[in-house]
Amino acid sequence: MKLILLGAPGSGKGTQAAYITAKYNLPHISTGDIFRENIKDRTPLGLKIKELIDAGKFCPDDLTVEVVKERLSKPDCTEGYLLDGFPRNIFQAESLDNFNQPDKVIEIEVDLSKIEKRITGRRSCPKCGGSYHVDFLEDKEVCPSCGDKLIIRKDDTPEVVKDRIEIYARQTQPLIDFYEKQGKLLKVDGNQPIETVFEEIVKVLSK
Ligand code: AP5
Ligand code: MG
Repeated sequence: MKLILLGAPGSGKGTQAAYITAKYNLPHISTGDIFRENIKDRTPLGLKIKELIDAGKFCPDDLTVEVVKERLSKPDCTEGYLLDGFPRNIFQAESLDNFNQPDKVIEIEVDLSKIEKRITGRRSCPKCGGSYHVDFLEDKEVCPSCGDKLIIRKDDTPEVVKDRIEIYARQTQPLIDFYEKQGKLLKVDGNQPIETVFEEIVKVLSK
């Protein structure tokens, strides 16, 4: 199964990806995680994109498409994939259709009013990619999945979040129409508790 998770910043893509990949045995491919790993490791790619990511701006399309193309050519993707954060505009979606077409696209819909609280309270694990909210963490500093030290992402400030939401509305929301026309779009209500959102995803995927 080849899946895409579509949704605004903080809609719960990373959170749901962990559940989906475990249930359906798919590799989780998050362009944001790949970029952040490159920044952490100070690779040539990481050095090139650091300022863009920290400011909540998109990385260049040609570079992003190349990263995904290469990742999808790895043996663990032959049976399928779960893409999180890619494609993010029409150019990227058309490029993906040219080299590895998705089967289904899950859009997680969330009220804008919820996003700031979710993102500014987020704690992220740089090692396993886990995403948590500070209100629900017993130990606020340590990843409950792998034990690494949790961090606050540089792009998780209220100002940058505002810009990311604006870019999402302008560049990424047109993809909803794009995939609806292809008959691939499945919508779930992301305002519900995490487990309920996941149950809904399983339900729409089984139809
Ligand atoms: P990326 O890492 O993809 O960031 P994003 O799309 O802004 O999404 P987030 O990771 O912020 O949110 P999420 O939906 O994963 O939410 P999460 O599950 O963590 O991209 C980062 C940057 O990389 C971009 O800005 C851009 O610069 C660059 N980039 C990436 N891809 C690119 C591309 N294709 N082209 C160009 N540039 C690209 O949840 C958030 C919080 O909410 C957590 O605290 C969580 O615990 C909580 N939460 C989740 N679900 C629920 C729920 N149901 N109820 C209550 N709380 C919840
Ligand atoms: Mg994410």
